[in-house]
Amino acid sequence: MSESIQRLEPLERKPLTDRTCLVTGSSRGIGREIAFELARCGADVAVNYRSAEQRAQEVTETIEANGETAVPVQADIADPDQVQRMVEEVHDELGEIDVLVNNAGITVDRTFENMTYEDWQTVIDVNLNGTFNCTNAFYEDIKSSEHGRLINISSVVGQQGNYGQANYATSKGGLFAFTRTLALELASHDSTANCIAPGFTETDMLEKVPDRVQEKIREDIPLDRFAEPEDIVGMVRFLASDHADYMTGQVIGINGGMEW
Ligand SMILES: NC(=O)c1ccc[n+]([C@@H]2O[C@H](COP(=O)([O-])OP(=O)(O)OC[C@H]3O[C@@H](n4cnc5c(N)ncnc54)[C@H](OP(=O)(O)O)[C@@H]3O)[C@@H](O)[C@H]2O)c1
Repeated sequence: MSESIQRLEPLERKPLTDRTCLVTGSSRGIGREIAFELARCGADVAVNYRSAEQRAQEVTETIEANGETAVPVQADIADPDQVQRMVEEVHDELGEIDVLVNNAGITVDRTFENMTYEDWQTVIDVNLNGTFNCTNAFYEDIKSSEHGRLINISSVVGQQGNYGQANYATSKGGLFAFTRTLALELASHDSTANCIAPGFTETDMLEKVPDRVQEKIREDIPLDRFAEPEDIVGMVRFLASDHADYMTGQVIGINGGMEW
């Protein structure tokens, strides 16, 4: 080969082979597909769930049947003590993690005038405080990893607001500022923090929205369909990989072209 012609390295087949990841809320929905995708890329995966033990077991069995490593780890992320126990379990089973995907989230929808303090607190406790609890518990891992990654799953609703979702929209908007701040603080350790803001996605969460409201939402989506979880996972794979070494503090919308 002449000196002016450079060798183009082929894309590595399993870009996350030496990584350990934890995905909160990966017993179903978007989180489950993220767990599958990270495992497909060679990562060891801790599959967190709150109550759906059987489903989390099925996720890990699927991953193991495909020749990769996974463990189910129960913890209600809203409870710091449970999260601390989860850290110990993950460290015992898989060692320190490189990638934390803060995915678990819930909705309790009411118009603001009908929203109780409990409705507000329940959602903030999981979506925002749960993200704090997990990030806090795994911060040293992410900081000291050569490939440390914090990936927060927010929502287009955090950008736009949404009728009947003051609690949820606030929790998801908070993740933008959280991500940006963590990006600044992790930067000196060469670790990154980014945020994905999916649009409306076909999971149990969207199932809870009445059909007539779903129809109305769909009218505002230029690509004229809801996302599938598979539409979201490619960005998580990218952010977890070396290809995103120089990308931090960003919010990436995957929403079919919705304006915000
Ligand atoms: N679906 C959408 O339209 C949409 C759009 C934008 C953003 N998002 C965001 O994407 C993320 C995933 O949503 P999804 O639609 O996949 O939700 P989903 O189908 O309702 O699944 C939620 C997952 O989170 C877990 N979870 C809930 N509360 C938890 C807690 N306190 N501790 C630990 N795990 C908990 C559930 O575990 P169990 O099975 O054990 O209950 C489940 O695995 C959420 O952050 C959501 O806000 C969703």
